[in-house]
Amino acid sequence: MDYVSIRVSTLRGDQKINFDAYVKINDKMILYLRRGDSFEGNRLQRLKEKKLKKMFIEPQDEIGYRDYMQKNIELAYDNNSTKDIQTRSEIIQGQQQSNVEDVFDNPELAESYLNAKDAAGKYVQFLVSNAKGLQAVMSIQNTDKSISHHGVSVATLSVALSQKLGLTDTKMIQLLSLGAFLHDYGHHESPIYPRKKTSEMNADELLLYQSHAQEGAKKVQDKKHFDQLVLRIINEHEECADGSGYPRNLTEKQLDPASLIVSTCNNMDKLMTFENLSKEAACKQLMLNSVGKHPLGHIQKLIEVVKTL
Ligand SMILES: [Fe+2]
Ligand SMILES: [Fe+2]
Repeated sequence: MDYVSIRVSTLRGDQKINFDAYVKINDKMILYLRRGDSFEGNRLQRLKEKKLKKMFIEPQDEIGYRDYMQKNIELAYDNNSTKDIQTRSEIIQGQQQSNVEDVFDNPELAESYLNAKDAAGKYVQFLVSNAKGLQAVMSIQNTDKSISHHGVSVATLSVALSQKLGLTDTKMIQLLSLGAFLHDYGHHESPIYPRKKTSEMNADELLLYQSHAQEGAKKVQDKKHFDQLVLRIINEHEECADGSGYPRNLTEKQLDPASLIVSTCNNMDKLMTFENLSKEAACKQLMLNSVGKHPLGHIQKLIEVVKTL
């Protein structure tokens, strides 16, 4: 039988599944969760700890799986839903992460990109209209240090920071969040990062690591469906206001304002996710080491955001 792969990140929430979910171990399909069960709590955590990205279903269950996803996402985005904000946020976070993985796996598919773009707009709306959404999404630990989960976290912080900065152009904020979702495309399939911390890399590895922004942008710049602002963010997200970033040592005036926001939020989430710092320690570190690298107003307002998490 040809099993169909599904993304683990789409299996969040308390809804019962209407399909059997398998894991592949040594080329064998093992039934992991039966129809009628749900992916609450421990079960999902265990899968994450195994860094398992994909599971499998039988081909005849594909329609059932699509129904499950559709229902899940409708429940999650319904502001009148009786579901608690944490469950809704987990489903939404998982859906966004799955969209990022889809684009990373198939950047040439306009359909995947446009789906992620449309969902980015819905995501911004969700964050703006649910005061507790930010905390709920950011409370989901990136235990497997996933680049796609990091993308969602950076997008979430970027939307919060843009709100604090008083930005109101919803179209721009949608593209800002899409750019943040996809900013680290250059790390997709990286042989070293994030397995190795930058502080542990040798000179060659560091060079490879530092090429990710430019390389990521290069790989997608010919894809007509990518928006210019998204390409700029991929290219510029490691640049700093004072010219100390890379790849081109651009300064504040040369950078797109959206790239500046993503750059600040990227550094904050790097500290929390990849350097394992508590939010308090990450705020302290950003204040101490990044003054000048990011606009002071960004640092201060982002710290205000993170302190509410
Ligand atoms: Fe990066
Ligand atoms: Fe990043």
